[in-house]
Amino acid sequence: MRNKNDKFPAVNIIGAGLAGLSAALSLARKGIPCRLISPMPSERAQSVMAEGGINASLDTMGENDSPAEHYSDTMKGGVYLADPNSVWNLCSKAPGTVNMLLSLGAALRTENGRPVLRNFGGQKKKRTAYAKSSTGKILMTALIDAVRRYESEGTVKRYSHHRLHSLDIADGKCRGLEAVDLYSRTVISMSGSVILASGGMNSLFPGMTTGSTVNTGDVTALAFACGAELANPEFIQYHPTTFPITGKRCLVSEAARGEGGRLFALRNGKPWYFMEEKYPELGNLMPRDVVSREMYLVMKDKDCGGKVYLDMTGLDKTVWENKLTDLREECIRYLGTDPAKKPVEVSPGIHYYMGGINVDEYHRTNISGLYAAGECACQYHGANRLGGNSMLGAVFGGQIAAESAASETDADNTGVEETVKAGTIEIMQPTGIPGEAAQLLRDSLGIFRSGEKLEAAAEKMQELIDSEQDALQRNRMLLGKAALLGALNRKESRGAHTRTDYPGTDDKNYRKTTVAVFDGKEIKVSFRDIPEKRGEGK
Ligand code: FUM
Repeated sequence: MRNKNDKFPAVNIIGAGLAGLSAALSLARKGIPCRLISPMPSERAQSVMAEGGINASLDTMGENDSPAEHYSDTMKGGVYLADPNSVWNLCSKAPGTVNMLLSLGAALRTENGRPVLRNFGGQKKKRTAYAKSSTGKILMTALIDAVRRYESEGTVKRYSHHRLHSLDIADGKCRGLEAVDLYSRTVISMSGSVILASGGMNSLFPGMTTGSTVNTGDVTALAFACGAELANPEFIQYHPTTFPITGKRCLVSEAARGEGGRLFALRNGKPWYFMEEKYPELGNLMPRDVVSREMYLVMKDKDCGGKVYLDMTGLDKTVWENKLTDLREECIRYLGTDPAKKPVEVSPGIHYYMGGINVDEYHRTNISGLYAAGECACQYHGANRLGGNSMLGAVFGGQIAAESAASETDADNTGVEETVKAGTIEIMQPTGIPGEAAQLLRDSLGIFRSGEKLEAAAEKMQELIDSEQDALQRNRMLLGKAALLGALNRKESRGAHTRTDYPGTDDKNYRKTTVAVFDGKEIKVSFRDIPEKRGEGK
């Protein structure tokens, strides 16, 4: 029975990984009740799988690091496509963000009470705090525990095993949602504003992603179909060092190269350390877009036998014991190879979507009352994300989205709390996009792209959309088509988007955000100016 003074949950969070938990914690600390809605419990979120680390210029390694250098590396790594003000906020607050996680008990590696930092790609200083190669697990454990306290008080209400069914959007405002209980198959209406924190779009690329297939991208697809703008959907990160396992790809953390792992190919039978030869300064730790492109080219070189290896045999025993323990176990379990004894064959796999739901510096979408954070949102990473910035972006972005939702939420929130609708609905299992559509995306959104292929794929995708009866699959294909159109219209090469027909970077016309919007009939793509940098860190 509702007490007259009880507050209704004012904010609904979709997704219980790092971004969702961070948003819930921020809201709860302000005393704002929220719902945490997710198909899987937090313990099974993709964030748990994150390996390498979280970036912050904590400067504990005597290298004179600073937020300005973190900012500069992030902007450069993203080829200047990210919003500079958001990136500055992220980097200048990063030490505070990591210290907050430590204060929650996150067991990051420390020495004398200070986090130990390691090298990661595209960064000139040691800046990545870590817990062996299971950093995500450690951060999630701390956040899950911190949020649990507010669950017990009733400020955070958990809806695990619930999936977003629809968004209540009218007149440019989001007023709530419907979620389906995956056990009872009943639909529940919930009022309040909505923070989307639902991860990447892995259903578009079945079998090709390091990310969990549970992160389908269906929430992003639904929001897009309802009028939420997408930004930069063509920017898809291929992580250089992955290998195939059943149904997905297994990541060999960049930390392996940060600790001294070396990429090579056998050219005419002799080891060729191509990254070290071509990029003497950062070598194996060049940003991921650069490494993946080089690997692709080496794998096509007939003198190199189509294979690239990662040699970790020179790593010290203490590195395996203290820093890469889980990585070694995974190679042994899935490949039957002990990487301490033998090089591992690796190839690029889809790891992250820099593009996603378009948000401003405050994580607001173009629909009032609707916010997005974490991998489902396009923020911080521009044309290519630096390793170690995703967990940072998820935790920080969740906080900012929560602040925005809190400041824009009616404190009394007198709306209907929840209504369970009569009857049950059929529930589709999270499969991938239909086979023909998947093939189009796989063939045209690879590491190298061409206008001809993209155009044909976009046309064919429209035919598939027109003949598809299932709303979920239609939405997914719309999302796929938006990525194709973004890639087709961006007539340049930048970061993770390389056009064989436009190999140069064209700042004048394309140092802009790609914006895709669906008006109910068709997808419109335009290019929007990136905000000017204010003040510090310029
Ligand atoms: O390679 C890795 O450990 C990945 C880290 C990241 O994407 O941030």
